[in-house]
Amino acid sequence: MSTHNADPRAELKRQAAIEAADMVKEGMVVGLGSGSTSAFMIEELGRRWAEGLRFCAIPTSEHSAEQARSHGIKLVTFATHPEIDIDIDGADEVERGTLNLIKGLGGALFREKIVAAASRRFVVVVDDSKLVDRLGARVPVPVEVASFGWTSTARRLEALGARVTQRLDRSGNVFVTDGGNMILDCHFGEIADSEKLQLQLDRVVGVIETGLFIGRTSEVIVATAGGLQRLRAS
Ligand code: A5P
Repeated sequence: MSTHNADPRAELKRQAAIEAADMVKEGMVVGLGSGSTSAFMIEELGRRWAEGLRFCAIPTSEHSAEQARSHGIKLVTFATHPEIDIDIDGADEVERGTLNLIKGLGGALFREKIVAAASRRFVVVVDDSKLVDRLGARVPVPVEVASFGWTSTARRLEALGARVTQRLDRSGNVFVTDGGNMILDCHFGEIADSEKLQLQLDRVVGVIETGLFIGRTSEVIVATAGGLQRLRAS
């Protein structure tokens, strides 16, 4: 896809995505992630669909839904398919060892977490630039919040030690998620105890969901210049 050409990591993302797409077998219920790496995975699944592979999918964003539909991939909902066999998604940071994640720089974290939570296997696809020793080293924790009273919510997030910025879209307008909410990017720096932070964030009134994915990862497929690596939670 020409849209990925400007990204110097695109070829590595594509390799990880194709490896993960190979895990999708006939008849499975598949969670379709969001973001540029997931887009390569959906593209590959579209190619396999055209060759005759049949499965059904639950997308994690309107954007991924649109891409899947463009390939003719069958989309379903939780009403008929409450359990997902495999969910394949990207990440913004992957912590070595724990395989805990920060997700949501693309803004789809809420649906991404719902789909991951309903999945038997949650497979994460990244290039090696996403691996960190401690979460928060490079990216903020995106937190989806209700628009109502958001400045009050932001103050309570600041009280937990974050520098909080309101997410804007490319035009400079307030970013609106697929669920109609806002994102507050919470800069904590390196997070010593991400599980504890997740619990603290969950208790803040106004917070809908956070981009911390703790203890959810089954496997990470990492593309490096030297080839693919598979990491499993220890
Ligand atoms: C979307 O909300 C995110 O969680 C993405 O999965 C994450 O930002 C990874 O995106 P890329 O594959 O584009 O780096």
